Amino acid sequence: MKTKGMLAIVLSLCLLLAGCAQNQNSAPQSSPEPKNTAAPSADLKGYPAFDFEQKTVTLNSGHAMPMLGLGTYALSDSEAENSVYWALKAGFRLIDTAKIYGNEAAVGRGLKRAVNEGIVTREEVFITTKMWTSDYHDGDAAIDASLERLGVDYIDLMILHHSQPADDVNAYQALERGVKAGKLRSIGLSNYYEPDDFDRVVKATSIKPALLQNETHPYHQSGEMKKHIAQYGTVLESWFPLGGRGNTQTLFNDSTISQIAKAHGVSSAQVIIRWHLQAGNICIPGSSSERHIQENYNVWQFALTEEEMAQMSNLERDERFANF
Ligand SMILES: NC(=O)c1ccc[n+]([C@@H]2O[C@H](COP(=O)([O-])OP(=O)(O)OC[C@H]3O[C@@H](n4cnc5c(N)ncnc54)[C@H](OP(=O)(O)O)[C@@H]3O)[C@@H](O)[C@H]2O)c1
Repeated sequence: MKTKGMLAIVLSLCLLLAGCAQNQNSAPQSSPEPKNTAAPSADLKGYPAFDFEQKTVTLNSGHAMPMLGLGTYALSDSEAENSVYWALKAGFRLIDTAKIYGNEAAVGRGLKRAVNEGIVTREEVFITTKMWTSDYHDGDAAIDASLERLGVDYIDLMILHHSQPADDVNAYQALERGVKAGKLRSIGLSNYYEPDDFDRVVKATSIKPALLQNETHPYHQSGEMKKHIAQYGTVLESWFPLGGRGNTQTLFNDSTISQIAKAHGVSSAQVIIRWHLQAGNICIPGSSSERHIQENYNVWQFALTEEEMAQMSNLERDERFANF
């Protein structure tokens, strides 16, 4: 018995040492595991903290949201279905769609495919969709229609797609009813670029927006809105994070971005994505390419230094690529 006990202890010690050696071997050689570099600054008091270990942000609704997701704007049905499936396979757990993209059903099919293959469960995936402006007069029906098209029984986050003073408060109140009915977990806004416009909705409703999704990238960093929404615990999410289709080369070839990419041995797209995350922006790069999707998720093994973050901040030009 005694000998057996000794053997067990020796064996456990060997396994422990082997485990340590393996961990050391698998650690990235060039850069340390990045820390949570996105702690809110003094300017951003109240802004949700980004947890780089969990790869999530806890919203003011109490729900955890992945900080990196897949965007599906301008993807056809087959592209959206495949991209969602590839993204979930690559590790993404956040998918962004909208009624107006016409691909909610395809997104639902991509999700189902991944669930059926045991890659994820529905509960592990965070689905965002958006209510289109022409539905603001009957938001309750718009919520049910999105649930139906997506093929899910709850939506993690539903946001109003654009500011529309004539009836967006009415639509937001429908989102609030959706939360009470258990159809929606969190709610928010998109395309509100003036603090007063954002506050107009906040003052007329009772649930503070969990998230604001605005055009945001190195040439339009959304600093003013981010400072403004921090008081409500609202987080910023970047659309056109890479500049948007047709504009990406402008950002990819920017000399600051490409030099930082070279220094880390990564692509410009990865530098931009990493910048969004460290700056405290939820990031949803769109893609119909499996290779790009895998590349875009591979941003956890390097971190931009404070100096590189400062260089990226200096790229601000207050310049939007979209006119909507
Ligand atoms: N709320 C709103 O009004 C609003 C407006 C626009 C967008 N959005 C949301 O935000 C998401 C992101 O915006 P977006 O998709 O329009 O623009 P984006 O993410 O800035 O850029 C997408 C473009 O980047 C390319 N790309 C992606 N990864 C790449 C990589 N690693 N290397 C090289 N090229 C790469 C894509 O091409 P490939 O397909 O070849 O990869 C595509 O041309 C949208 O998909 C949508 O969900 C919301």
